Amino acid sequence: MKGGFLKLVVLIIGLNVFYTYIGLYFLPQSKSLPPKTYNIKEGITQDELLKVGEEILYGKGQCMVCHPNAPEAGMRAPAVAGIGGVLLARAKDMDVNPDEYMIQSLVDPNTFIPEGYQGIMPPSQKLLTDGELIAVAAFLQSNGGSVTISFPESLPILEKFKGKGDAEAAVKEEIMKRVHDGLGREIKEFYEKKNEDNWHKRFLSKTELAKEGGK
Ligand code: HEC
Repeated sequence: MKGGFLKLVVLIIGLNVFYTYIGLYFLPQSKSLPPKTYNIKEGITQDELLKVGEEILYGKGQCMVCHPNAPEAGMRAPAVAGIGGVLLARAKDMDVNPDEYMIQSLVDPNTFIPEGYQGIMPPSQKLLTDGELIAVAAFLQSNGGSVTISFPESLPILEKFKGKGDAEAAVKEEIMKRVHDGLGREIKEFYEKKNEDNWHKRFLSKTELAKEGGK
């Protein structure tokens, strides 16, 4: 009787070890690791920078949640394929520096919104370090454009636009909170009346609203 009990205990422990082993070695792990920080230092080659940029675009940056690789019907964000060329052409058209335009697209995404899209892209600096932002920007340029962004030379551009994106994100958050609280309804209605679909981009005080002709 005593021996039977012991055998049962050994069997149970053995089965547990067996299944733990199967679980650890054969099943896909769904454990989510904290995003790693890429080590981007002065002296990194352009090739390395582009490789890291690609990894970030398809991984840590979470960009593909919205951006499709190739154009597709109903896409809610521009496709990655050829994006470097598209932005380069548009920058030339707008007579702005292409490096600035690319980097600004990442850290202050709502200043220029291409037709057909909405300003839903979050500023990327919430997720990525300065080096990582430069790497992604360079990689995007390599998609049909010419790579002129490099590390650390392009850091001053980042500094120029990061604050702008941060400020806008803060305003947007505040508006969304107010809309959520019901306080922003009048602002929303005002802009809806004006057929302005970017109403959430701006926040006006009551006095400013009155000045603009709203209630
Ligand atoms: C929540 C969805 C979303 C996520 C996540 C997102 N984007 Fe975007 N992105 C958009 C939308 C929508 C646009 C177009 C509107 C705009 O410019 O803000 C856009 C525009 C862009 C543009 C400019 C494209 C153009 O034609 O002007 C670039 C470059 C870009 N995103 C890169 C990225 C990168 C890199 C990441 C990841 C670090 C990222 N996006 C994450 C939605 C997203």
